[in-house]
Amino acid sequence: MDLRIRMTEAEIAQEAGDIFCRCVTQKPNAALGLATGATPLALYAYLQQEYQRGIVSFREVQTFNLDEYCDLPKYHRNSYFTYMSENLFSQIDVQDHNIHFLDGNTTDVAAEANAYAQAIVDAGGIDIQLLGIGRNGHIGFNEPADHFTDGVFRTKLSESTLEANRIYFSDIAMPRYALTMGIKDILQARQIILIATGEKKAEAVRAMVKGPVTPQCPASVLQQHADVIVFLDEAAASLLS
Ligand code: GLP
Repeated sequence: MDLRIRMTEAEIAQEAGDIFCRCVTQKPNAALGLATGATPLALYAYLQQEYQRGIVSFREVQTFNLDEYCDLPKYHRNSYFTYMSENLFSQIDVQDHNIHFLDGNTTDVAAEANAYAQAIVDAGGIDIQLLGIGRNGHIGFNEPADHFTDGVFRTKLSESTLEANRIYFSDIAMPRYALTMGIKDILQARQIILIATGEKKAEAVRAMVKGPVTPQCPASVLQQHADVIVFLDEAAASLLS
């Protein structure tokens, strides 16, 4: 793992964002794996800025989001689709037909999983996968478990995840299930960029970087990937000696 500890979220957003921009400039039809949560917001703002400055175009890019809540309408204000539309897609020139999202309301998860896997193959595989990390070490919505997962599956959200995300669901009950790309899907990306900021992530970061590779800390599996850049602020890195 290539650990990069930076002073501010803005520095991280710029450095990570420049990696995305370079990738897309070199390969205009790159496939980007995208994440949600609070962590990538600064990066998405930076990508918008670079698009508006004419530095980069996402016209031919394909995007694949990691996960989506179950039992929540696609256009609900709390869906991850809405998050991505508001924070990135509506602000850049990515084309709607190149945006790939899991359907959290599907009644046939196996078919959804197969279709997503095929779409990724058709796009030539994911060039860069962006990740955040949960306080319990989850990536996407791969929660601590007894085994590492393969492809897309329906997952029950852990108490830790419900607790961390409940603030976004003030007026409705938070969904308890989600569809997520599996660990094997994530590891197939050519390059992975993980961003973690704030002291609430420090223990998960320590387990990811220093701990054993175990499905109890799903992010620890990234130790086995050949090209992972981990951007941390000092708080998130504070338990790394
Ligand atoms: C969420 C998402 C993850 C995200 C993580 C951290 O539950 N499913 O993709 O990386 O939790 O979120 P945040 O960046 O808000 O801390």
